[in-house]
Amino acid sequence: MDFQYTEEQLMIRQAARDYAQRELIKDVIERDEKAEFPTQHVKNLAKLGFLGITVDPKYDGGGMDTVSYVLAMEEISKVDSSLGVIISVNNSLVCWGIETYGTEEQKEKYLKPLARGDVIGAFALSEPEAGSDATMQRTIAEDKGDYYLLNGTKNWTTCASSASTYVVIAQTHPEKKHKGINAFIVEKDTKGISLGQHENKMGMRSSDTHSIMFTDVKVPKENRLGEDGFGFKMAMKTLEVGRIGIAAQALGIASGAYERSVQYSRERKAFGTEICNHQAIAFKLADMATDIEVSRLLCLKAAWLEDEGKPFGTASAMAKLYASETAMRVTTEAVQIHGGYGYCKEYHVERLMREAKLTQIYEGTSEIQKIVISRSILRD
Ligand code: CAA
Repeated sequence: MDFQYTEEQLMIRQAARDYAQRELIKDVIERDEKAEFPTQHVKNLAKLGFLGITVDPKYDGGGMDTVSYVLAMEEISKVDSSLGVIISVNNSLVCWGIETYGTEEQKEKYLKPLARGDVIGAFALSEPEAGSDATMQRTIAEDKGDYYLLNGTKNWTTCASSASTYVVIAQTHPEKKHKGINAFIVEKDTKGISLGQHENKMGMRSSDTHSIMFTDVKVPKENRLGEDGFGFKMAMKTLEVGRIGIAAQALGIASGAYERSVQYSRERKAFGTEICNHQAIAFKLADMATDIEVSRLLCLKAAWLEDEGKPFGTASAMAKLYASETAMRVTTEAVQIHGGYGYCKEYHVERLMREAKLTQIYEGTSEIQKIVISRSILRD
């Protein structure tokens, strides 16, 4: 067992840390308040290779391993987890699926610009009546010979407005239930696509979230990903990968709040000494640090399993479950340590607490992760 990072992994982490601590920090509060998409930061991070970190260089990606991806996600999400989710969706839910299941033509046409970050992607799975129960797809992709006709509504799609390329999950053969589901690459400016309102979210406010309505949208046959009927399995495999990214995002939120709490408790005085000298605070810091370390190890283990080509679905669900619950606990304690200041925006921890909540909900709630984990235990 080797707990050392490679030189390359350390370089990626440093690059992400430098950008986050120098640039993202400057306007993160304002972007959160205005719910403003971080267009320029996405462009800058694309130039640094973060939009297609793990994609093969032959498709214009960074060719890094999943461990590097986790390290980068943690550093970015410490400061701005809205950017974290934009990067995670592009890398895991969009690039990964096209690279793994796409044809050469699909990779040339769609993966390359996504991996370069010239455009970004969105993943449309959830529906008004198919959230946790993802098999209940009501969006229909009717086979019309040389194209599919897409009709239906998707909910909660991260980057629905800022993305140019969607991966859309839809039902083609309702009688076959989940075995009739397909995944498609859909260009956002195709006729018949419209968006619902920009959701006014509690946290992650500068990533844009909308419903997407598809009305008689023609999707060329060659845009289907994988074999006919493979869409549900593809979505589930994609979520296994995505959960590593969200786990790393939750880890970043937690470690950002923890680092701020350590610093604050060393500076703030009460009862004649810095508050870190009070056991009530020191014990909180010890619990936070331990929970964060466990989360980091779970994230890295899931990433390592993926890099080794071993099954990682249970590990990614465990990482996502533990890291997101940790993020909620740690950010809540961080606000408590900061007292009244923690409740104000300029100390950042109230925003981190709002952001932590979403990591327990999207890409499968904590309860969904427990379904995935318990089924894997009981299957063996
Ligand atoms: N890999 C491959 N196949 C899988 C799989 C996996 N990880 N998980 C399930 N399957 C297969 C099963 O083998 C089964 O196939 P067969 O019938 O051929 O045997 C089929 O899929 C159905 O599986 P289940 O019977 O287990 O399905 P279920 O309905 O009981 O439960 C679930 C599945 C795990 C609850 C699933 O529905 C799920 O993960 N739901 C949560 C959905 C989710 O995470 N949504 C997030 C939206 S994306 C998002 O948030 C994006 C964003 O913008 C940030």
